[in-house]
Amino acid sequence: MTVHFIGAGPGAPDLLTLRGRDLIAACPVCLYAGSLVPEGVLAHCPPGARIVNTAPLSLDEIVTEMAAAHSERKDIARLHSGDLSIWSAMGEQLRRLRALGIPYTVTPGVPSFAAAAAALEAELTLPGLAQTVVLTRTPGRASAMPEGEKLAAFAATGAVLAIHLSIHLLDKVVADLTPHYGADCPVAIVWRASWPDQRIVRATLATLDAVVGTEMERTALILVGRTLGSSDFGESRLYAADYDRRYRPVGAEPRFPEVS
Ligand SMILES: C[S@@+](CC[C@H](N)C(=O)[O-])C[C@H]1O[C@@H](n2cnc3c(N)ncnc32)[C@H](O)[C@@H]1O
Repeated sequence: MTVHFIGAGPGAPDLLTLRGRDLIAACPVCLYAGSLVPEGVLAHCPPGARIVNTAPLSLDEIVTEMAAAHSERKDIARLHSGDLSIWSAMGEQLRRLRALGIPYTVTPGVPSFAAAAAALEAELTLPGLAQTVVLTRTPGRASAMPEGEKLAAFAATGAVLAIHLSIHLLDKVVADLTPHYGADCPVAIVWRASWPDQRIVRATLATLDAVVGTEMERTALILVGRTLGSSDFGESRLYAADYDRRYRPVGAEPRFPEVS
């Protein structure tokens, strides 16, 4: 039997891949990270499924649940918020399952930074302004940051920063970033992106403190960078009328001639 790790998306139950939804519907056991995965996603579980919130469990207890279902020949849907490739704690679970010889699959999900960008109706990479997005965080009680992964180091590049797990340290984030981006640099905070009570605050590094309410705690993403809200950028060459490309040959001697 198999443990199916599934990215459960940012919150809205319909921001889930079809594969993820179908796997949840097919598994008689569902383990979900209840601190962030909303109950609405659990509506995809089949009737009578054993549904366990793993938020209060230790890693040993979670693996015991998985091993028990495996010995009963039951498939498991293992849900984590957003996508599994960032801050999901999937890595240590996979390592345990490999040691126990329990098979698993991994199905991606919509990450919160993408849901936040969608809420802002923003393309984060715009020609001439920024071509890199850094997904990062500040140190927390559960995880230290490796030496070198400092906000200031990323900020020095001018990339757009998507800062997770850090809303409680907003003052420090602003202080670290302002010398690099300038006080007038746009910032957006998206709180509970895609949830019914989603909230957005737009400001600059200088004005942010005055506009953020105290209710914006925990599940919020801080986005910083020159592309946010900007309409002063060049157009991509991709769709330029004179841009010769494989799918739209242009000129007397196109680089990729059409084969008839
Ligand atoms: C443990 S990490 C999980 C990240 C997740 N794996 C992902 O793909 O986005 C939790 C952090 O992600 C961000 N986050 C998760 N869901 C969010 C949402 N719906 N809206 C805004 N931020 C969210 C917050 O910064 C939160 O502190």
